[in-house]
Amino acid sequence: MFPCALNGAARSWMKYCTPRRAFSAVRPRLVLGIETSCDETGAAVIDETGVILGESLHSQKQTHLDAGGIIPTVAQRLHRENISRVVQEALDRSGIEPGELTAVATTVKPGLALSLGIGLHFSLQFVRLHEKPFIPIHHMEAHALTVRMLHPVDFPFLVLLVSGGHSLLALAKGIDDFLLLGQTLDEAAGDTLDKIARRLSLRNHPECSTLSGGQAIELLAKEGDRLAFHFKSPMGQLYDCNFSFAGLRNQVTLAIGKKEREEGVEKGQLLSCVKDIAAASQHTLVSHIAKRTHRAILFCKSKGLLPQHNPTLVVSGGVASNEYIRRTLKIVTDATGLHLLCPPSKFCTDNGVMIAWNGIERLKQGKGIMSHTEEVIYEPKAPLGLDITSEVKDAAIKVPPLRLRINS
Ligand code: KG4
Ligand code: ZN
Repeated sequence: MFPCALNGAARSWMKYCTPRRAFSAVRPRLVLGIETSCDETGAAVIDETGVILGESLHSQKQTHLDAGGIIPTVAQRLHRENISRVVQEALDRSGIEPGELTAVATTVKPGLALSLGIGLHFSLQFVRLHEKPFIPIHHMEAHALTVRMLHPVDFPFLVLLVSGGHSLLALAKGIDDFLLLGQTLDEAAGDTLDKIARRLSLRNHPECSTLSGGQAIELLAKEGDRLAFHFKSPMGQLYDCNFSFAGLRNQVTLAIGKKEREEGVEKGQLLSCVKDIAAASQHTLVSHIAKRTHRAILFCKSKGLLPQHNPTLVVSGGVASNEYIRRTLKIVTDATGLHLLCPPSKFCTDNGVMIAWNGIERLKQGKGIMSHTEEVIYEPKAPLGLDITSEVKDAAIKVPPLRLRINS
């Protein structure tokens, strides 16, 4: 199932290994987390209180920006080239020997098959060599629970995950117990922003050449006039919590084409109204997310799914780094009496820490810890929790209008 070339990475890892130190009984539990589900090779060692002892991250962002998108075989090669070093760096920085680890936790679902395969193969060799338990991790569960490493958030809480690969709303009831309220019907929010940024050739903009699509749109939108373009909000007539972004992208693409013809702009050149398009696109996308989130809050309240005391909305995933979305969601949570929690950007995007923390959560509850790893496989597609999206749709909750007026 896995490419043989990986054995090289594992072998080069082995030469760094030193004899195990005696395990001290008073030492808190320690987990090494490994993330390779998409385009970040991440590793971290954390203890059971959430202290990050050492971490390392190799981002493939620039390569994929240069290529105009993620090419799975390129992502696989870069994971293969970097995983051994990244894991070694995390361990070195932590001062922890492999023998001192309580377990190794690795993302096995969902994600790009070729990327997941590298992390899993490396991890299985590692745990077999060092005779450690293995904890397979669901990437989206890890995004959802990272907040608990930073704040004392009790279950249940509502969670909005918006990244380059996913857009979903779920109720987190326990570490492996989720109700899926809504998800994207086509592409993810971050993917849409990345594609709009590419269509606008933002890589050629002096301030955006090293930024992801979402970051570039956010930066340019700050100086744009969102009212200069009108994009229709998606799915206004559907009273559910699902998302759709492909129609918005189509509207934006048509507007860009029209402006290019008007201005006589060639492919790869920048339009004069690039900031206005960024501002209008960002506003429409964020308003759509805010409206669906508002409905999810009202649905959960109507079914008594959220606690009376301190009901909380957690927002995570790469797009959650966006200040405009954070401020818009604050309007929604203020209006509905929820507490809004967004982890710092560094913990919203993919990293090894979130995987290690999910391993700690599982260790504490004794869930999903494997001492025999023969059966472990990766799963590119994996739903999050129990799907109740049709129940949410049937409830057809109308969201009262909210003034989502934010200065970029
Ligand atoms: O969670 P993440 O690091 O990777 C996965 O997709 O799992 O998210 C990356 C996505 C990209 O689509 C990127 O354009 C978007 O998050 N993103 C942002 C911002 N920073 C990253 N989108 C909007 N505003 C940002 N500031
Ligand atoms: Zn992610």
